[in-house]
Amino acid sequence: MTIDKKFVDELAIVTSKAALASSYLVGKKDKIAADKAAVDSMRSDLNNLDIQGQIVIGEGELDEAPMLYIGEKLGTNKGPGFDIAVDPLDGTNFAANNLPGALSVIAIAEKNNLFKAPETYMEKISTKVNEKNVVDLDYTVKKNISNLSDYLKKNPENLTACILDRPRHKEIIEELKKLKVNLKLITDGDVSGALLVTEDKYNVDIFLGIGGGPEGVLAAAALDAYNCNFQGRFLFETDEDKLRAGKMGIKDLKRKYELNEIVSGDSIFCATGITSGDLVSGIKIEDDKFISETLVTHKSSNLKKVLKLKQNI
Ligand code: FBP
Repeated sequence: MTIDKKFVDELAIVTSKAALASSYLVGKKDKIAADKAAVDSMRSDLNNLDIQGQIVIGEGELDEAPMLYIGEKLGTNKGPGFDIAVDPLDGTNFAANNLPGALSVIAIAEKNNLFKAPETYMEKISTKVNEKNVVDLDYTVKKNISNLSDYLKKNPENLTACILDRPRHKEIIEELKKLKVNLKLITDGDVSGALLVTEDKYNVDIFLGIGGGPEGVLAAAALDAYNCNFQGRFLFETDEDKLRAGKMGIKDLKRKYELNEIVSGDSIFCATGITSGDLVSGIKIEDDKFISETLVTHKSSNLKKVLKLKQNI
């Protein structure tokens, strides 16, 4: 089964309208308001689509988030059944402080084809090189870089690694520096970070480190369309996390997941720029219209492109 291509356009409109709603709050130093604007817009537009959708990756669970919570059903209840992953605003800091890289993101797959996980951190690795045993979450940083360097026939000095700039990554960053690998340190937004391996123009050979689990699942959907390598391991640290994971059917809490265990079958991914960043430009308003740029992928039709839309406000 494949997902009808019409949903690419419909979902790009959903993320572009969520991006517009959030764009009014760019630079207003209010992360929560910027997020809420995107959440409200996305929820109401998803509810108008002829789908039987269910959120599997969302804004927390029912008890903590009133909208777009894990398990929430969306759509008119007519049409195909989809698993939906959302991050209505990835980069709340970027939006609040008018910094580059805020995105509104959705991924869908056919029912039961997206990994269902509670909101926790995830250890991740992604590369364009999709050959087994070259880069692996279980290898040391040194081994991954050495293998990648051999495979790409590039010295480590000519490789670039993207990683969130966080104290928890101190050791990895030190090791990369020791190996003379170039660093692209990002302050937030690791959906975008993971996707920088997809095309040579971004000049990133490997993305690694710990970031949000939901962001990992979303990135995996796009990376699948690009036929890139992605592995993730959820980090269930607190007893509460472990309990939730158990309730969601996750038995082995330390398991490393391959991309196709996180997303399988056909999928669509849409990420619209709120502020301009590496992947897409932000929202621009011209009179009574707004212009949006959305990175869209659709696995079965091999679609991967930036869709520019001009719509009425
Ligand atoms: P928000 O938009 O929810 O603030 O997330 C931004 C982000 O940078 C994600 O892209 C990333 O996965 C996560 O935060 C990393 O978490 P932390 O800031 O706790 O290191």
